[in-house]
Amino acid sequence: MKIAIVPGDGIGREVIPAALTVLDAFGLDIEKVPLDIGYGKWERTGSAITDEDIETIKECDCVLFGAITTPPDPDYKSVLVRLRKELDLYANIRPFVPLKTVKLPCAGKFDFVIVRENTEGMYSGIEELHEDAAYTTRVITRKGSERIAMRACLLAKERKQSITIVHKANVLKSDSFFRDIAIGVAKKNGISYTEMLVDAMAYDLVLRPQKYDVIVTTNLFGDILSDEAAAIAGGLGLCPSANIGDRYALFEPIHGSAPDIAGKGIANPIAAILSVRMMLEWAGKNKEAESISRAVDDVLAQGIVTPDLGGSYSTSDVSNAIAESVSKFIGKQ
Ligand code: NAI
Ligand code: MG
Repeated sequence: MKIAIVPGDGIGREVIPAALTVLDAFGLDIEKVPLDIGYGKWERTGSAITDEDIETIKECDCVLFGAITTPPDPDYKSVLVRLRKELDLYANIRPFVPLKTVKLPCAGKFDFVIVRENTEGMYSGIEELHEDAAYTTRVITRKGSERIAMRACLLAKERKQSITIVHKANVLKSDSFFRDIAIGVAKKNGISYTEMLVDAMAYDLVLRPQKYDVIVTTNLFGDILSDEAAAIAGGLGLCPSANIGDRYALFEPIHGSAPDIAGKGIANPIAAILSVRMMLEWAGKNKEAESISRAVDDVLAQGIVTPDLGGSYSTSDVSNAIAESVSKFIGKQ
């Protein structure tokens, strides 16, 4: 397997090397292709990502991605939005399961996945900035809606045979289009469905997360709901994601570059490590993926945690402990 490694900016440069320590513990036959992409590169060279970078990435099977700072500069185009489009990574899969021993703000067990459309919607990139008004075109296509609904149904087939379709069809015509297509796909696949308006969903997710299993929605709604979900699952430092297309995949923690803590060595690497777990699962390496989950639980149970979880350990303390635990589980010690 050939993996493009993109640490990016801020804590991406800390959590990705930490996650690689865990990946290396397996001793798998993996070629790593390091790439310098992001805001730091833009400051130095005037370009955050080049066409050659994209070509190099396309020669790899998948990408392990940290985070990239997006400055509020109208000339700066989001690298991740471009990568998701160029690689056609249309499904953003974000699982939320509270980890053992992590104290949660809400009671009860839950285990749900947000399946977010990743290439269109409000992030179409079609924008106009005028003196007294600004416009963003929200694009919802039949193809985009069908394939994301299909992804959700496939996931539901492995889980509880049901999906929740989240939209704002009472106000937005583009969302009633999305809704109708998603319902059609669910019916065709024998998957039961419920619908929620996105504002009601934001409210209910905090109060009753245990009610949900597979949630499918459009790009911006999925972006917002998944940060909310991270808060109830124990924090941004714990939540991984997979951006999946038919040919490529990109795995990344859902958090950003966290400039407030960058450079201090205290970022929680677990979200990045669990992103490696999702990558291994995607590559069919289920045994290795499972041992990462066990190792993370093991290290959390020992209280080896970063300050966001109330501990005083560093990023590398946590990743080294997880790598050691992984080695134990796979019998390398
Ligand atoms: P953020 O996710 O970087 O940080 C939000 C808060 O969570 C901060 O207080 C941060 O310290 C904390 N946090 C995040 N990850 C953590 C971790 N692993 N361990 C401990 N604490 C953690 O979001 P924010 O501050 O809105 O964005 C910062 C920059 O990152 C912006 O330039 C934004 O555009 C970019 N960003 C990039 C993303 C990506 O590349 N995928 C995703 C989200 C934001
Ligand atoms: Mg986000």
